Amino acid sequence: MTYEAIQTAAAEIRTLSGRSEHRVAAVLGSGLSSYAEHLPGSVAIPYSELPGFPVPKVAGHAGTAYSVELDGVPILILAGRAHFYEGYALDQVVFAVRASVAAGAATVMLTNASGGCGDGLEAGDLVMLSDHLNLTGQNPLFGPNDDRLGTRFPDLSAAYDPDLRQLAHQLAGEVDVALKEGVYAWFTGPTYETPAEVQMAKRLGADMVGMSTVPETIAARHMGARVIAISLVTNLAAGISPVPLSHEEVQETADEARERFTRLVDGLLPRLG
Ligand code: HPA
Repeated sequence: MTYEAIQTAAAEIRTLSGRSEHRVAAVLGSGLSSYAEHLPGSVAIPYSELPGFPVPKVAGHAGTAYSVELDGVPILILAGRAHFYEGYALDQVVFAVRASVAAGAATVMLTNASGGCGDGLEAGDLVMLSDHLNLTGQNPLFGPNDDRLGTRFPDLSAAYDPDLRQLAHQLAGEVDVALKEGVYAWFTGPTYETPAEVQMAKRLGADMVGMSTVPETIAARHMGARVIAISLVTNLAAGISPVPLSHEEVQETADEARERFTRLVDGLLPRLG
């Protein structure tokens, strides 16, 4: 996916939203897409109208961008994402994030659903990413580097912005939402992990396991955007959970967490601008 394609999509975001820039972009993960529906006065743009945007196919992942102003801050909400396990190349997986950054978003908020394996984590917990483990052997920056996007060898020593994390903890306290912090390990899916894989990830330092977010973080950091990421632990990970994992359980926990998630994100998004 070329630099030109990213710029073309960014221009179309500007045209269709009627906003010359979006300062923040937020990606809504599994079961969390409905957050976008409560936003007053938002302009909805189906991904199918944005050139280069992959149209997601998974239940619970809509494919609509919402342009909205919260407390005067122009924000682009991406409801639905493309996943590697759907067969998309990683440059397609990260395309919407790249286009959003090109459209002005200097800060990217990523959200996801995950399985919890860290000590003390429970289904329903909201956990901010402090760092990640990329266990897939994949990277969206494989291939020739386009210097117009970013450097060949991006630094990830603070992939998840320390200042934004502090801000989020403060805000979470103000709106009375419990917010934990942990390390997220990226697996490709679409199978959930085996109990042995979960134990491996846990011993390597993971608190959550999931199938998204990390490529988007890498692409956003490559372009110099700041990243904050929040995971909803929808289930205990395989082997820790006493019951088999299911997408239905993921959706149910997301439904249950919607009100808390909304309160947190409503408060957080404008402050990220
Ligand atoms: N593993 C991977 N991805 C997930 C999980 C899980 O247990 N739950 C929600 N997304």
